[in-house]
Amino acid sequence: MTYARISGTGSYLPERILTNKELESTVDTTDQWIRERTGIRQRHIVADGESTCDLAERASRSALESAQKHPEDVDLIIVGTTTPDKIYPATACRLQSRLGVFGCPAFDVQAVCTGFIYALGIAEKFIQSGSAKTALVIGADTHSRLLDWTDRTTCVLFGDGAGAVVLEASDEPGIYSSHLHADGRYEPLLYVDGGVPRGKGEISEGNAYTKMRGNEVFKIAVRTLGRIVDEVLEANRMEKSDLDWLIPHQANIRIIEATARKLSMPMDRVVVTIEDQGNTSAASVPLALDVAVRDGRIKRGDKLLLEAFGGGFTWGAALVRY
Ligand code: ACO
Repeated sequence: MTYARISGTGSYLPERILTNKELESTVDTTDQWIRERTGIRQRHIVADGESTCDLAERASRSALESAQKHPEDVDLIIVGTTTPDKIYPATACRLQSRLGVFGCPAFDVQAVCTGFIYALGIAEKFIQSGSAKTALVIGADTHSRLLDWTDRTTCVLFGDGAGAVVLEASDEPGIYSSHLHADGRYEPLLYVDGGVPRGKGEISEGNAYTKMRGNEVFKIAVRTLGRIVDEVLEANRMEKSDLDWLIPHQANIRIIEATARKLSMPMDRVVVTIEDQGNTSAASVPLALDVAVRDGRIKRGDKLLLEAFGGGFTWGAALVRY
């Protein structure tokens, strides 16, 4: 059996840091409210002119270096993003060009905060089937560009960033399983208008701002992530105690704590980056993974549960032996 194994990780955060204190002077909010309700203290924001592809390229080069691979070794590129540089070409194609590799499949996956888990699950299938041997899988978003900075219910939540992994074919696990889901009926709870014009003369439909009924999303996220944890363990006939690390999407510390409780996992086995990074959408899971690999917490052989929930609704998880 062929598995997809993570052979390298990388990430990148823009230089500019926006603190809760700074937000206090622009919207009706407080550092205390943001920290207590979300766990966020600060987030990174892209510079003018900096794009999702710029962040993805930095994260990709760092992941390739850690895997001791060159761009020409890569035979598949998938970028999970909701903030592509352009409607087309795909950010993955722009990234491919920057990396100087040509011919291999390169495409974006749009699953909002679950984008990286979707990209990972798809790349896993390419590798299992023998269609690819070395995949570059990225989660990258500049969600700060999709915010109404006068709307305190959303603008305090998000940050920008990118994370990447190199996946390689291996006889040993690797990814044990990946689980992808969506339920399009929930669009009214979380969406961004805008996009391709629907009629002649129309520039775009609506304002391209994130609109979220946060409290309703919160409750569904907690329930749904609780269910997917059971699904993953059952599929692999594993117990909660078999897991070494939880690497959750970083939308809200209270959602993360609820999933950790469901797994009976102490918080020191959960990788938390939300305090410094906010919700970086598709980038949050690979960013958290890279942080914990580089600081030495995650070691080769550790069993990791990666999970995310986001707009769509989409949700997913992967059980990985690092
Ligand atoms: N500062 C101060 N007060 C605020 C702020 C703010 N930034 N934002 C909202 N409030 C107020 C509200 O107006 C409300 O006031 P009211 O009681 O007078 O009406 C009060 O705080 C409580 O608001 P709630 O929305 O009920 O607060 P809640 O505890 O639910 O926290 C939050 C809101 C942080 C958004 C939470 O609901 C959440 O994290 N939701 C899930 C987010 C998520 O997982 N999204 C999916 C991924 S994101 C993606 O895919 C793009």
